[in-house]
Amino acid sequence: MNDGYIALIDSGIGGISVLLQLLKVLPNEKYLYFGDNFNAPYGNKTISQLRDITLKNIDFIKQYNVKLIVVACNTLSVNLLEEIRDYSGIKTFGVFPPVETAVSKSKNCLLLSTQRTAERYKGVKGLTVIGLKTLAENIEKYMFDLDSISIKNEFYKLYTQEQNVKGFFDTIVLGCTHYFFAKNKIFDHFQPRKIIFGEYYTAKLIKNYLANSKSLVNNKRKHVLFIGKNAKNNQKFFEQFYQID
Ligand code: DGL
Repeated sequence: MNDGYIALIDSGIGGISVLLQLLKVLPNEKYLYFGDNFNAPYGNKTISQLRDITLKNIDFIKQYNVKLIVVACNTLSVNLLEEIRDYSGIKTFGVFPPVETAVSKSKNCLLLSTQRTAERYKGVKGLTVIGLKTLAENIEKYMFDLDSISIKNEFYKLYTQEQNVKGFFDTIVLGCTHYFFAKNKIFDHFQPRKIIFGEYYTAKLIKNYLANSKSLVNNKRKHVLFIGKNAKNNQKFFEQFYQID
């Protein structure tokens, strides 16, 4: 048993999608959530910028009693997970787009992610990859008015012609944790058979790890501490979804 925090980091509210999955499978753990909203979005930054930002953020969260780190951001996980793990010296998990699962089970599969993540998946057989420039940024900006986000506009910036995409892809992989909060809109726009995302797999892996290493705790009530400059808004955003879920 280890009573330290499970600390989640992301550029902003995206990692709350991972937190929601973790609370489903491990409701009695203590969580620390750090959303770096002031450096968001991450998806258009260089790897070197992301490294500088993230290593400082790791120093910040290490002031708390952290037993495990969750890099609740695909952009950081895909590009920097090993470095973050080595630097922190703490057991660290990431979140990844479940591309292999999707490709093996579908005929026509689309990955939607930030540009930095998209670069890493271009060329995967059976996968169309679209790196979106502003969707995560808009989800961040309109966090309390998500209905105002237009998925069509996000794609309009990429295509010169109107395309009929309804039903074209049977599976859509969400490769950015922010997109979880626009999944219904993405569904309406593309009308695939299914949408999948990595949050669920990350939560399951962490549960298995803690159980096997006998590090599970049993706090009696939900315990989530939000830290960082935008902690209040991030918490408010989380509470809305936690109640619905
Ligand atoms: N939520 C992050 C991800 O999963 C980063 C989004 C961003 O800040 O661009 O990639």
